[in-house]
Amino acid sequence: MDLLLGQCGDATPSRDLPARQPVHADADFAFPSHLFALVVNVPLIPMHEHNGSSEVLLGTYTQDVSAQEGAHGDRASGRIMEHLLDGSSSGSGFRDFRRIDKGAVVIRDLRLWHAGMLNRSQDVRIMLAMIHFAPWYRNRMRLELGKDVKPLLEDLDRKGELGLEVPADWVSRDEALRRYMNRGFGNSYDFDQEA
Ligand SMILES: [Fe+2]
Repeated sequence: MDLLLGQCGDATPSRDLPARQPVHADADFAFPSHLFALVVNVPLIPMHEHNGSSEVLLGTYTQDVSAQEGAHGDRASGRIMEHLLDGSSSGSGFRDFRRIDKGAVVIRDLRLWHAGMLNRSQDVRIMLAMIHFAPWYRNRMRLELGKDVKPLLEDLDRKGELGLEVPADWVSRDEALRRYMNRGFGNSYDFDQEA
């Protein structure tokens, strides 16, 4: 599997007017009809009713891109059409992930519809989003990692404990630290396959 690490677009800042994310799919392109990528979310603060969480619409992995409005590259691509959200066609029900412990692991199919919920607190809700793509998927994305990480990964690989293909551009530790929190969010990445 390829591994990609990033910031999650569901980490809704609350300093301006509070808002919840529109229900959307992170796969905002003509994607395969079977599982090709898993998102692993790890909250870095506890999540509860006050600071919101993420809701996931179960069963929506069966839907395709025709349920969406907003093409890739738009501000909020992957938005699910409103009329699909109030009927049975939207999936088999909501799962509102309230009360998730800091450090918990939430795994979901990249195709599932979901949304970051309203954050009523003054704290930024933050969680890691790691996307694991199937090895056959022609994923074009690359990680940017500090060179100091390379020997750690190589050592794990030598011992047979890595189990991941890590497509990375290696930069200096300073460069990695300068840029790692200054990246795009959510659907600003292109998860589509190479031609
Ligand atoms: Fe998302």
